[in-house]
Formats: sequence, structure tokens, C-alpha cells
Amino acid sequence: MKVSVLDLKAEFEQLRSEILPALERVCEKASFVLGEEVDAFEREFADFCGTKHCVALASGTAALHLGLLALGVQPDDEVITTPNTFLASVEAISYCGAIPVFVDIDPATANLDPKLIERAITPRTRAILPVHLYGRPADMDPIREIAARHNLRVLEDAAQAHGARYRGRRVGGLGAAAAFSFYPTKNLGAYGEGGALTTDDDQIAKFARAARSHGQTARYEHEFIGYNYRMQGFQGAVLRIKLRHLYQWTARRQEIAREYRRIFAGARVEIPVDDPRDECVYHQFVIYASNRNAVVAQLAAREIETVVHYPRPVHLQPAYSSLGCPPGTFPHAERACERVLSLPLHPGLSAEQVTYVANAVREVVGAR
Ligand SMILES: Cc1ncc(COP(=O)(O)O)c(C=O)c1O
Repeated sequence: MKVSVLDLKAEFEQLRSEILPALERVCEKASFVLGEEVDAFEREFADFCGTKHCVALASGTAALHLGLLALGVQPDDEVITTPNTFLASVEAISYCGAIPVFVDIDPATANLDPKLIERAITPRTRAILPVHLYGRPADMDPIREIAARHNLRVLEDAAQAHGARYRGRRVGGLGAAAAFSFYPTKNLGAYGEGGALTTDDDQIAKFARAARSHGQTARYEHEFIGYNYRMQGFQGAVLRIKLRHLYQWTARRQEIAREYRRIFAGARVEIPVDDPRDECVYHQFVIYASNRNAVVAQLAAREIETVVHYPRPVHLQPAYSSLGCPPGTFPHAERACERVLSLPLHPGLSAEQVTYVANAVREVVGAR
């Protein structure tokens, strides 16, 4: 039985009759950049996150960049984040001319370990950027408490966590602002690039709205030097449709994750811990395997596709070699990257496919 990590073609077939007329409406109105569909999506996504504002942008990376600028991050400031993330979380810090300062992860959750944050704070620290990796919320209460004590701002990287809940509250409104990605493979994915910044803060929203469009506060009135970070009209139309399905898709992801956990129970399959007070939306379902290459090969032989998120922590990427963090600096993140493996998990998987994958993993990994 063939099982892939994602099937966007099948998802389109399911949505075809909704998507094509919506794209046609955008063409008929010629609202290709921002426009009514994007405006409506902003309102609907803000409601979904329980925030006052949503500013639709060109990508998640743009959202992180504008989010940090809106929080006042300036050249030579330091921003604390995790090395166990996609490069974009850290690039956004560099775009501001600021310096990323890594803090190791809690190996149980793969997210930033709040216990290690305080010792990384210096007089130059301006902000903390926790990432809700794999759709699992970072431990936000201690992070916010430390930030408040040291007068720091918090920007959530919620690129992988649409709809996740921390202690009952949706991510997106747990810091000063939050950055979402709508890259096509995300839980809520556009048909191209897309992102958004959510916030309850009027000033942050106002800044992001101007900054996404060349610093304009009115047509051809440029208050400051901004960017072209606007969302396309097509993406707003697609995202509105997919947002209506997201509740059901997330429930299905969670159901598949429960089934994986049930079948792995008692076997030696190592997986991150879910805090029962939180709600993970399972952008990825990862396991840890010391003999990862062999596991990948044995699963591939059974036609089960897997992916590694991510093979190398950011401090060991050539792009960040100038930070001078040699191997061994963040041992938990390094160990996670050496062993992590994402299993197929998307709402289109059938019950048979889930059982097939889980039993194969149990056999290959659990029987070591
Ligand atoms: C954790 C994380 N942060 C940021 C991004 C960047 O988002 P985008 O690709 O939309 O720029 C991504 C996804 O690509 C991500 O997974």
C-alpha cells in the first residue's frame, strides 16, 4: 500500500467545485492583490484565532519580519529563539539586522525550553521568538512571564500551528503578535505563497498594514520605507474556503495521531510528549529513531514516504556559521535533528493507511 506524506492533488479534487468559482470571482473583479477576498479572509482568520487583527501578507517569512520590526527590533538587538526550526524563523531576525541567540529545546516537546531562557538574556535582548513546532504549542506561560519580567516582547512563530490551543487559548494571541504561514503544505495552505500577522495591538496592526505596502498610509503617501509583502487576491479566496474545512481537517489529524499513539503504546517508539492541557494540531507527527537511515529505507521498501524536519539545527547550517556555535552547543536540538522522522499525516489518509503505517513503524522501530 502506497502512503505519501501529503496529497494536495486529492485535496484539490475534493475542493474543486468550491475553489474554481472563487478564483473566477477574483478574475472577474480583477482584485489580484489584496481586495475583497483578502479583506474577508483577514476578518475570518482573526475570528478563528480570537485576535482583534489579522494582516494578510505575502508569506510566513514576511509575517515574522514585519512582526519583529513592529515589536521594535533594531540592528544589533538580540532575539532569543530555538535552533530546532525552519531557517525562516531565524532569517527574519537577521533581516532586522538583529542577532539570533539560541536556547536549547526541551527534548520532551522539541520546543524552546523556558528554563534555559533567562541565562541567555543580556542588556541587548529585545524579544523572544518561540516556535510552535509540528503544531505543538510552545510553553507560553513561563515564556511570557520571563518576557514581562525583563521587559521583552514575544512574537509567536505559529507557521505550523493554525488552531492549536495552549491552556485553552488559540495560538496567535499568546504574545504581542504571531506569524502564520500559508505555504501550500501547511495545515491551512494557500495555492501559492501566503502568510499573516495576528495581534490584539492596534499599533502593530497599523504598522504591518502600512509596511506590507511600501509604507503607505494612504495612496502614494509613504510614511516610511516599507516592503511589497501584500497577499494576492487568489490566495485570500482559497484560504477562505480552506479555513471552513480546517476544523474538520484538524480533528482528523488529531484522530490519526491518537491512532498512531494507540498502536505505538507498549512498543519502543519514541515520540514527543503532548501536554493534556494543550491541543496540538499535528502539522507533523514525528518519531525519534537512532537508526534513522535504516528506518527510512525499510519504510520506503513498504512504499511509506517519510520526511526529516529538520536534518540540521539552524546553528549548524552554513548560513549561520558566523554565529560560531560548534556542534555540541545545543545538544538536545542536535540530537533531535539526528533522530527525528516525520510519518505520513494528513486529513486524506484512510483508516487502512494509518493502521498500515503504524504497524510498519512498530515493526521496524519498536522491535529493535
Ligand atoms: C516554523 C516556520 N517558520 C516560518 C516559516 C516560513 O513560512 P513561509 O514559507 O510562508 O515564508 C515556515 C514554513 O515554511 C515554518 O515552518
